Amino acid sequence: MTENKAQEQQKAWWKNAVVYQIYPKSFQDSDGDGVGDIRGIISRLDYLEELGVDAVWISPVYRSPQNDNGYDISDYQDIDPMFGTLADMDELIAEAKKRGIRIIMDLVLNHTSDEHRWFKEAKKGKDNPYHDYYVWRDGEEGTCPNEMKAVFGGPAWDWVPELKQYYFHQFAPEQPDLNWENPKVRREIYDMILWWMDRGVGGFRLDVIDQIAKEPDRGITNNGSRLHEFLRELSRETFQKGNLITVGEAWGATTEIAKKYSSPDGSEFSMVFQFEHIMLDQQEGKEKWDLAPLPFVKLKKCLARWQDELFGKGWNSLFWNNHDLPRIVSRWGDDGEYRAESAKMLAAVLHGMQGTPYIYQGEELGMTNVKFSDISAYRDVETTNMYYERIEAGYKEDDVMRSIYAKSRDNARTPMQWNGETNAGFTKGTPWIGVNPNYTKINAEDERKDTGSVYQFYRKLIRLRKEYPVFVDGKFELLLPEDEHIFAYTRTDGETEALICANFTGKNVKCPIIGKWKDAQVLIHNYEKEVEEELEPYEAVILVECL
Ligand code: GLC
Repeated sequence: MTENKAQEQQKAWWKNAVVYQIYPKSFQDSDGDGVGDIRGIISRLDYLEELGVDAVWISPVYRSPQNDNGYDISDYQDIDPMFGTLADMDELIAEAKKRGIRIIMDLVLNHTSDEHRWFKEAKKGKDNPYHDYYVWRDGEEGTCPNEMKAVFGGPAWDWVPELKQYYFHQFAPEQPDLNWENPKVRREIYDMILWWMDRGVGGFRLDVIDQIAKEPDRGITNNGSRLHEFLRELSRETFQKGNLITVGEAWGATTEIAKKYSSPDGSEFSMVFQFEHIMLDQQEGKEKWDLAPLPFVKLKKCLARWQDELFGKGWNSLFWNNHDLPRIVSRWGDDGEYRAESAKMLAAVLHGMQGTPYIYQGEELGMTNVKFSDISAYRDVETTNMYYERIEAGYKEDDVMRSIYAKSRDNARTPMQWNGETNAGFTKGTPWIGVNPNYTKINAEDERKDTGSVYQFYRKLIRLRKEYPVFVDGKFELLLPEDEHIFAYTRTDGETEALICANFTGKNVKCPIIGKWKDAQVLIHNYEKEVEEELEPYEAVILVECL
């Protein structure tokens, strides 16, 4: 390796990394209150080290009234007592470091909680120094400044009678939007980020970052005209002073926009989360709740386009899951008979691509969606708001529940399944949300012992990425683009060629490519048999050849 290349890799360490996401409320409870906490995470670091991940992104643990499970922050520089203390956080950073794991904090910069000191001050008067930290419009009670809707239902405007003004909120009314036009807001945010960098965090995930430059008078939420100006300033004032991984959540990103966010010159972020592939199984122009079958060929072409267009010009993140999405094995695999096979297949297809893979807690076990029979068992504000809105609008209860079973964010938020004991080993108390009853069959303790488990398959995939540079640097080529069953592609870096070949269906299918690769080395395979031209349901294999 040339010195330059080595230096570049040192700087862009995150290109070789695999990241694990923890939803702290549901990961591990240490004190029996039914809610996961930081000491719980510390107690599971050995598990994460064994899995082999390089970094852990933790959803927000800051002080928060928890209207949106911590995505409503009331103090950026303190830990919510429910999760622990700042001293616990420091210990987590230090203990993770000992195991070669960096901690990525979740930054929610588009909005705060309405209980944040800034907002409480802002409401005191138009001449209060904090008033301009938020987005206000004069008006009359009952007539919103415009028709804009909030993501979690209802208007995007709320009335404050004392001020005779509306404030703007893209999410819940308890999540007022920050005014990024105000340089004082930006400075406060930068100082806060520098403070966390001093504490030793390894990176940041930036919540709904494409929405910070909103222009409500023009009805614009994301990709506002000053967005990239703000991001470059943010990056210059903070991230560029450290060797961090940064990833922005950007629902509105196209490949062109993603190249700006993840430009190799490091002017914005390391990479973005984009959701084009994730939104394919909904009716066009409608909400995520309006279900549609997955258009498989479209999915392949979409992922392939991102691979091609970002090659050498930006950097991808690779994910099927997070705390807002249903479990992938229930969504695009089979959570019945072929659960383990399909979970492994989905993993192989994702981890074979170029980008930084993210594993959401429990994905490495093949955890599934949950079906609670009554709406009262659901905790997520988006789910419950939608339920009552749609029931009121005359939808049938069964249809609404079907959408919830398919798409509710709570599918991802049931407790991590550690073992077959009470509450899956998550808590000794009463869990804040129900445990998926399949924990007796799907849990970490069993899967760690079983050499053929989904968990062991993920471990191996993570190792392969470190052993074969072709998975990091290799050029992607989609094969059989029109095939309705098979997802196949190659990665080539001049020294090595890898073939990733997967049957995305529950039927046996013939795969003509395999024959040409019969002398190649099998790196990973989710069936214990020879690789043949006919693929079993959800069969997936990665083969490699030296060029
Ligand atoms: C992001 C988070 C989601 C949260 C929303 C508002 O989409 O991932 O959980 O509800 O932003 O902060």
